[in-house]
Amino acid sequence: MANVLEKIKASATLLSKRIVLPEGEDSRVVEAAAVAVKEGLAKITLLGNEQDIIAKNPSIDLTGVDIVDPVSYEKTQVYAEMLYKAREGKINKKTGLPEYANVEEAKAGVLKDYTMYAALMLKAGDVDGLVSGACHSTANTLRPGLQVIKTAPGINTVSSCFIMVADRENKYNPDGVAVFADCAINIEPDANQLADIAISTAATAKDVAEIEPRVAMLSFSTKGSGNDDKFFKTVPKMQEATAIAKANAPELIIDGEFQFDAAVAPEVGKLKAPDSKVAGNANVFIFPNINAGNIGYKIAQRFGGYMALGPICQGFAKPINDLSRGCSVEDVVAVIAITALQAK
Ligand SMILES: CC(C)(COP(=O)(O)OP(=O)(O)OC[C@H]1O[C@@H](n2cnc3c(N)ncnc32)[C@H](O)[C@@H]1OP(=O)(O)O)[C@@H](O)C(=O)NCCC(=O)NCCS
Repeated sequence: MANVLEKIKASATLLSKRIVLPEGEDSRVVEAAAVAVKEGLAKITLLGNEQDIIAKNPSIDLTGVDIVDPVSYEKTQVYAEMLYKAREGKINKKTGLPEYANVEEAKAGVLKDYTMYAALMLKAGDVDGLVSGACHSTANTLRPGLQVIKTAPGINTVSSCFIMVADRENKYNPDGVAVFADCAINIEPDANQLADIAISTAATAKDVAEIEPRVAMLSFSTKGSGNDDKFFKTVPKMQEATAIAKANAPELIIDGEFQFDAAVAPEVGKLKAPDSKVAGNANVFIFPNINAGNIGYKIAQRFGGYMALGPICQGFAKPINDLSRGCSVEDVVAVIAITALQAK
């Protein structure tokens, strides 16, 4: 992990991206802001009231951190107008009423939800990436991005992945780095969503893990060997997803469907899928649903000694990442660096 993270941080320092942290009320985030600036990982915009932040964190040196107070910032009205325009005609699922009846309501909305405020700064191009979630749920962290940042060109699904880093030599993963998806956001993705997940995960593998992706679409079956899937239809789903991803991203090295051993073990790959460029040689793994993905990464972590870096969000038009509420200052710093790489 140390090496991969150090590489990520070194790459981030060369980019000098600006990352917004909307959770100025959280001391871990404030300290991470100071560390990120001191280490030159990114320029930071922290949201909150400057006097309150300093009073609550007297020992943290915030030199070089920009603090923006949405209550008094000159662009708050512009962001409110952007929000109103972006969500015009959208109905709030809970109340059945328009999300924002007018700009004034949108302004009240951005002042109540600093993650939304940060997403609008990102949309406006005033920052390059957004990191939040130290004191907000995943849904509340991602929803503003889903609503106003939307997805990257050619992608309709926001998803997540883990960069898995080996702590010892492993003959089935010679680089010691693999990427698993989607383990945290999409519960039961269909073939189109799986194709998006595969394309986005390959991009994360390249941009953040800095490996050349060879993508395996996983199943309990290899190239049609499983013929007892009449109920769940996972095999045809993974086959269709592979075909869609190939059509949407012809340059991508991707194949499937594979069992995990056919994807990573050259002797099994050769036997079960002799013509495949990916079989026996994969380093990016797309699971058929969140159950398989979440269980899979935790098995690799606990039994396999892999360290899991993530979840890293992907597929947004501009990078947004969700922190775990149990995060440490170091975790926040790492996610700032990852987000900076996604902004390149
Ligand atoms: C992703 C998630 C946060 C979305 O929450 P939500 O607010 O209930 O989503 P909604 O269905 O109301 O959709 C809100 C908007 O986002 C869009 N959206 C939702 N999920 C999306 C996705 N995966 N990709 C792209 N857009 C998405 C919707 O189309 C909708 O757009 P619109 O309002 O402009 O029409 C939610 O699906 C979730 O919480 N997933 C599981 C996360 C989880 O619990 N993980 C466990 C951690 S291990």
